[in-house]
Amino acid sequence: MSTAARLVPSLSMEAPLILGILKESAPGETRVSLLPENLKSLVAQDLSIQVESGAGEGAGASDRGYTEAGATITADRRWILANADLLPVVNLPNAADQTRLKAGAVVVGFMKPLDAPAALIEAIHRPTTLFSMELVPRITRAQSMDALSSMATIAGYKAVVSAADLLPRLFPMLITAAGTIPPARVFVIGAGVAGLQAIATARRLGAVVEAYDVRAAAGEQVRSLGAKFLDVDLGGINTEGGGGYAAELTEEALDRGRDLITKTAAHSDVIITTAQVPGRPAPTLIRRAAVEAMRPGSVIVDVAAPAGGNCELTQPGVTQIIATQNGGGVTLLAPLNLAAEVPIHASQLYARNILNFLALILKNGALSIDLTDEILAGELQSGACVAHEGQPVNARVAKLLEAAHATELEIAHAGSTP
Ligand code: NAI
Repeated sequence: MSTAARLVPSLSMEAPLILGILKESAPGETRVSLLPENLKSLVAQDLSIQVESGAGEGAGASDRGYTEAGATITADRRWILANADLLPVVNLPNAADQTRLKAGAVVVGFMKPLDAPAALIEAIHRPTTLFSMELVPRITRAQSMDALSSMATIAGYKAVVSAADLLPRLFPMLITAAGTIPPARVFVIGAGVAGLQAIATARRLGAVVEAYDVRAAAGEQVRSLGAKFLDVDLGGINTEGGGGYAAELTEEALDRGRDLITKTAAHSDVIITTAQVPGRPAPTLIRRAAVEAMRPGSVIVDVAAPAGGNCELTQPGVTQIIATQNGGGVTLLAPLNLAAEVPIHASQLYARNILNFLALILKNGALSIDLTDEILAGELQSGACVAHEGQPVNARVAKLLEAAHATELEIAHAGSTP
């Protein structure tokens, strides 16, 4: 489709644009898309801000706080869905909510467009315009909208704090009259945003930290945080994909990483594993044997669990105790939403990212969507816009949607065949 500028005419003279803030409905979700402190610039543009009662409860924001910031509170979720022109969300509304969206609504949030494109089809067909925060390109101008990095920062911190809480040892080295306690040994796999924050947090708590990443560029950052970077000879293959992300590796290259991980796991008390490749299942890097050879009481936090996990034994969302060869067990955590465990700061960061994104598509209280902007689409159609007015835009997602649509048709056909 054409990427020519598309300007939606201002409605502000007659009816103000309605911005809805929903109480997130996903199980365990505590975050909210905008906090009362974020509403000032939106109220100044004469937007009508409608907040579902209790929307900010999990993130420490009361209904009163929103009212004082200029919003209106309503208990009628369906009214917000049916009337909001603009819906900043944390997660894509569920299937039932999608059927209630106003035709022409603009929805902005995490949408998992590469992992679960089929879940978007209903919303796109309303028709709506969808912007996915996962697809905001990693260019300098869009750094203030990088919600993935914001949430990964929180996940990396919380993973270490959770591990420290469960570990039957101390993190720091202690020299006491009763003897010396050695520091905990923490192994971080994947030194991206979450991994680097995990390293920094574990170092602050006094642990000795080692880290591994397929991207050689991560080595310098790991060392600058006072951790040891473990190098693996991957035979000179390209390990970098676009936008600072890793490329998907061959089985042989993955195996070399698995060997190093098995060796390092044997002397680690904690493993924080964060390795991911966008749009692909997380690579399986920690073998069962590596877990079983760990010291009793060790803890693994699989931060990649939402993408399937990095450990062969991971069951996303389930905490397991894995029996070790030496008796006792290893606690394996596979949290699905670590950011939601730190709801106030997660919401603060996410809301700032959302507010900065909204500034791109809102001008003087009206929607103004310029698809020539590379953050939204650009010539390569590789930006955050998943669909505009019911038509797929992001080229990568469009392909996945086509495939998802074809599968749906096949299933429907198979169901109707006697
Ligand atoms: P991510 O969450 O997709 O992956 C986490 C880490 O896992 C990455 O460092 C990746 O290299 C690593 N990984 C993937 N496969 C692996 C394997 N088989 N074995 C070991 N490690 C593996 O990536 P994240 O954390 O979102 O970003 C990665 C990098 O992107 C950052 O460290 C940074 O350099 C860059 N970045 C750039 C930004 C910008 O330019 N605005 C913003 C944020 C990050």
